[in-house]
Formats: sequence, structure tokens, C-alpha cells
Amino acid sequence: MSSSSDWTSRAERPGDGAAIESLLDRSFGTDRKVARISYRFREGRAPLRELCRVAESGEGAILACARAWEVMAGGARLPLFGPLAVEPQLRGQGMGRSLLAECLATARRGRWPGGVLVGEAEYYRPFGFRPAGEYGLVLPLRLAPPGGVDSARFLALEFSLGGLQGVSGEILPLDE
Ligand SMILES: CC(C)(COP(=O)(O)OP(=O)(O)OC[C@H]1O[C@@H](n2cnc3c(N)ncnc32)[C@H](O)[C@@H]1OP(=O)(O)O)[C@@H](O)C(=O)NCCC(=O)NCCS
Repeated sequence: MSSSSDWTSRAERPGDGAAIESLLDRSFGTDRKVARISYRFREGRAPLRELCRVAESGEGAILACARAWEVMAGGARLPLFGPLAVEPQLRGQGMGRSLLAECLATARRGRWPGGVLVGEAEYYRPFGFRPAGEYGLVLPLRLAPPGGVDSARFLALEFSLGGLQGVSGEILPLDE
């Protein structure tokens, strides 16, 4: 668990849903479920509860969240990390990095060979994320939103050396 004088992190709870939706609206816009390909893998499916964490103020307000869903690739299951969001006025204080680090530490102890996400390469590079294409992983373009996708934002991380060897091809929603 991380904490500062102003906030602590904890596992997400079912009752956090409305506050998280509101934070995500402010962070990614209310059109995010249409405009972002990651939602094609999330909608109608339960998140990976063990990889969902929030930062909470002393008063119990949700200040940040990090979530993940499971996807399929090359016959393996992988966590698709995200969304990661921090209250606009609290950004740049390490909260995002801290929540993400906790999720990744839990994921590394879990059952997966690695993980993927769609996001800014610059932000995720220090955690070891690399272009997913280097592992032969691709986004299914038939699921792309109207504005298309920037495949440079599709990133992958091996949890051990060679973990993603043989895990390649399109990532698919869990039940496809
Ligand atoms: C991206 C986000 C989660 C980062 O959380 P945060 O708590 O503000 O970030 P941290 O304090 O952990 O890290 C700050 C560092 O990340 C960098 N950073 C922040 N947002 C970034 C972005 N979109 N792309 C690249 N780098 C970014 C900052 O420049 C800063 O770098 P520095 O340490 O070299 O100065 C937060 O800014 C946010 O909610 N943004 C809107 C939602 C979003 O775009 N989320 C997904 C990101 S792909």
C-alpha cells in the first residue's frame, strides 16, 4: 500500500463505481467508450479485481484509479491495464506512477506472462513497456473506433525474460 500525508491507496470496491466513472469522464471525456479501442475489450466484462486500485483522500474521496481487464492473445490470457487516471488538480505528484507500480507488482506475482495497454509510450517506458509490435502483438483493427488507432500507443511488458515469447497475434476480448 502507498500513502502520503494526503492520500492512501487501497483495492477498488464495488461501491467506488460511480466516483470512478466521474473521474474517468473528467480525464478521458464522456465519449471515451466510443472513441477508445480499449473499451471494446472492457464493455460487458468484469474487471480484474485484484489489479484495480484507487487512491483515496482522508475524507474518503476517490482521487485516482488504476484498473485492468483480461484479454486473450495467442491462446494466453493477459491483463490489459488501464484506465489510469488522476484528478486533474492532483497530477504530477506521483500518484499515477504509484498506483500503476502497485498493480504491476501484483500482476507479476499472478498467473500472467506479461501485460498490455494502450497509452503514451513515454509515460509507460520507465516501467519496461515496449511497443507491443516487438512481441508480434497487434490490435484488431476491426475493433478500431471511427478516428482509428495509433498502433505506437499499443504497448506490452514481459513479467519475466521471454515471457511473451509465443504470445503473439491480435489481442481479443476474453470471450471471442
Ligand atoms: C497520465 C496520468 C495518469 C499520470 O498521473 P500523474 O499522477 O499525473 O503522473 P505522475 O506524477 O505519476 O508522473 C508524472 C510524470 O509523468 C509525465 N506524464 C504525465 N502525463 C503524461 C502523458 N500523457 N504522456 C507522457 N508523460 C506524461 C509527466 O510529464 C511527469 O514526468 P516527469 O516525472 O519526468 O516530470 C494523469 O496525468 C492523468 O490522469 N491524465 C489524464 C488521463 C490519461 O491520459 N491517462 C492515461 C495516460 S496514457
